[in-house]
Amino acid sequence: MKEEQKQHLWWQTGTIYQVYPRSFQDSNEDGVGDLKGITQRLDYLKWLGIDGIWVSPFFSSPMADFGYDISDYCGIHPLFGTMQDFDELLQETHARDMKLILDLVPNHTSDEHPWFQESRASKDNPKRDWYLWEDAKPDGSAPNNWLSVFGGSAWEWDEKTQQYYYHAFHIKQPDLNWRNPEVQEAMLNVMRFWLDKGVDGFRVDVMWHMIKDKQLRDNPVNPDYNPLELPYRQLFPTYSTDQPEVHDIVRKMRDVLDSYNERMMIGEIYLPIHKLVAYYGRENKGAHLPFNFQLLALPWDAQQLASAIDEYEGALPQEGWPNWVLSNHDKPRIISRVGKSQAKVAAMLLLTLRGTPTIYYGDELGMRDVPIPEEEVQDPQGLNMPKMNLSRDPARTPMQWDSSANAGFTNGKPWLRLPENFQKVNVAAQTDNPYSMLSFYKKLLSLRQQEPALHVGSYAPVHADTQMIAYTRQAEGTCFLVVLNLTHRPCYFKPEHHTYKGTILISTYMERESTPVTGAINLSGDEGIIVRLD
Ligand code: GLC
Repeated sequence: MKEEQKQHLWWQTGTIYQVYPRSFQDSNEDGVGDLKGITQRLDYLKWLGIDGIWVSPFFSSPMADFGYDISDYCGIHPLFGTMQDFDELLQETHARDMKLILDLVPNHTSDEHPWFQESRASKDNPKRDWYLWEDAKPDGSAPNNWLSVFGGSAWEWDEKTQQYYYHAFHIKQPDLNWRNPEVQEAMLNVMRFWLDKGVDGFRVDVMWHMIKDKQLRDNPVNPDYNPLELPYRQLFPTYSTDQPEVHDIVRKMRDVLDSYNERMMIGEIYLPIHKLVAYYGRENKGAHLPFNFQLLALPWDAQQLASAIDEYEGALPQEGWPNWVLSNHDKPRIISRVGKSQAKVAAMLLLTLRGTPTIYYGDELGMRDVPIPEEEVQDPQGLNMPKMNLSRDPARTPMQWDSSANAGFTNGKPWLRLPENFQKVNVAAQTDNPYSMLSFYKKLLSLRQQEPALHVGSYAPVHADTQMIAYTRQAEGTCFLVVLNLTHRPCYFKPEHHTYKGTILISTYMERESTPVTGAINLSGDEGIIVRLD
């Protein structure tokens, strides 16, 4: 069946927007964003053209990893508000015909979660097996060489019960034992709790970490390790991640979702394409969208990106729906990676490729990574490995709404500082400026929403070289040609076997919009165009 004739679901045709709740909008002057704040800003997201909102964790947590260390999966941290605030957020999101996706963190809990408190109480506690406890080696050292993403060994010695526990991330984030059926049931019940409330889906944190090698074999050494990278990369996580049985777990989660109407699951998975696509699951009964991080992981190089796009398109299972991400709360912002002049080209790529785009809050304004002085660093990844510049704070700074104090984010003292240029780079300043990044995003989103060719159409590569990428998107007799110059120098698009005729609909240089195209196209440096073909 042709793509355009199929029924598509909202998460296929729509665009997802990631809200980092600490930094979106504060409503009670404590300097930290909250649920009420998000509700206040829903009209903005609707105006922008967003279909689904993924909110990073706002649950009860000691905040060792800013909410990714959860001590009660069904409770709201008072910093973010109350359950009533949540219910209101959900209701107001739905009232605007948008969807709400929660962050589910099943791989690990906080060490302050009652489950872990029990588990660590004694070796014979009924919850002992809910986590990964192991004896020391005869010489007292850790059970194997596995490393924590946040630095050092992934094993922490527990003096009281004389065993090590495993934590892939922070010492305060012990990993659950997903081979234990009680753990599985407990977490599936967490999903049911939120699904019963009406949430539309989950973004599942570190999905590929959930099962580890039963024999706990040592991870192999990475001979190409570069000392500027995360020390975690010294080893290949061959045995600590991406184990075959993880797919059975994902399937169980999917079964829960499928017992409700139209709910969905995104998986956070950093793996090469051929391993990533396995997370769609057998018969497509895995994650609906295993996050595809190619655009944020690869160098900004036309040939490399073009081949990754084509490799991904080719590797997708028959019914697997593609998706694309440029930035998130763990990585540098897109503009800080590719530079201001390429930021619009990047947006055009994200919003014209085939598949669901996820936009990271503030990228639509061209918000950049904010330098956070050493003494203000808060992210555990930065604090644990000082001097390595690994803090994720710079990409998590408050949303810039207007030019008032603290950019309209808070009337208190913001938990992270704002950049010096927020008076220029903010929603209010950009809304009525047709040349702004925000107007550019809005224009792309609205074209994408209007045109089936762009939200469900087929994709065909046309050309790629050291400077540019060109492809078409087609549906229902409409065809768009997208040509992107990923360099600062002009380039020339002159296909040998085909003459493209049409009109430029959107260009990163607005002056060129509405001009006709007949044959060869000359592109300025940093130019990207969408041409509606005749
Ligand atoms: C995911 C989150 C990251 C967090 C980690 C541990 O990668 O995106 O922010 O630190 O999991 O939960």
